[in-house]
Amino acid sequence: MSQKKVSLTGVKPTQAPPHLGNYLGAIRPALRLADQFDGRYFIADYHALTSMRDPAALHASIYDVTATWLACGLDPKKTLLYRQSAIPEVFELAWILACVVATGQLERGHAYKAALDSGEAPNSGLLFYPVLMAADIVLFNTNVVPVGQDQKQHVELARDMAMRVNHLWGAGTLVVPEVFVSDAPLVPGLDGKKMSKSGGNSVPLFDDADALRRLVMKFTCGSEPLGAPKPSEGTPVFEIYKLVATDDEVKTMARKLAAGGYGWGHAKEDLCVALEREIGSKREAYRSLRADEAALDHVLAEGAAQARETARATMERVRGAVGIARS
Ligand code: ADP
Ligand code: TRP
Repeated sequence: MSQKKVSLTGVKPTQAPPHLGNYLGAIRPALRLADQFDGRYFIADYHALTSMRDPAALHASIYDVTATWLACGLDPKKTLLYRQSAIPEVFELAWILACVVATGQLERGHAYKAALDSGEAPNSGLLFYPVLMAADIVLFNTNVVPVGQDQKQHVELARDMAMRVNHLWGAGTLVVPEVFVSDAPLVPGLDGKKMSKSGGNSVPLFDDADALRRLVMKFTCGSEPLGAPKPSEGTPVFEIYKLVATDDEVKTMARKLAAGGYGWGHAKEDLCVALEREIGSKREAYRSLRADEAALDHVLAEGAAQARETARATMERVRGAVGIARS
């Protein structure tokens, strides 16, 4: 048995195909944690149903996301990778957790409140979302949940539910998870604002090298003449370069920009070289992984089989604790 803490995080298959912001701001930082923890990553496919209505798109996204994480370096031998839908115990535990969380707590959930505020009539899945997420987490005796700032409230709710279960049915029934908010960088998009799919300013991660180059050339930049000194910090080209170039390369670009005689076109060319070095082999890997859905199914099924061992043990413990089974 590994002595490392269990870390678990879910990825909703709604953002495929990924862009550079997803990779540099979420996927790469998450994979860098892989050695530190006994990690589990799963595709939160049933969570996606709160918003996705197109079955073909959902189905394709599940494979896009799986191939993306594998191509970016997730090693399924070290880190379990599975689909939420393959673990029926998640849904059983979600019901038990629903029976201990107050409706008011869910009504204060910010995804639900945001939907109400924007005039939508949210489905109950959106209200229930944090319960399903709490089940995802506590089913696996998770110690830490690495997530972005926007998911912090959900993990705090999961903590509350686990503590409530332990209070009602015995200390140690569930492990109480901790949130781990990563200090992942914010990646600027083509217009200098946060890169996002909906912002129309994103650079797809796995487009071919020519398409990548054409987009990089579109990054907003100053209009200083070639000979003029140029700022580096805070400019999209330099900020992204910092994330993909070596320290020496970054210093060199800053020096050249400050000295003048080095234009934004040159900086963008240097950025393309560094990006291609970071992404090129991953793009190739993605293409071959994505082309073989049966092989992806196999990886996901192996992950699910292992994950279910823990899931079954937790549910036996919980069923016994609540009185559904004899403990
Ligand atoms: P989008 O904003 O394109 O819809 P999502 O909100 O679905 O992307 O984000 C998926 C993951 O990628 C989240 O963990 C999010 O924090 C991260 N992410 C998205 N865009 C960026 C960005 N520009 N910089 C850093 N991280 C990002
Ligand atoms: N709600 C998360 C998101 O939108 C995805 C998710 C589902 C998750 N279950 C989880 C994240 C459990 C961490 C742990 O990004």
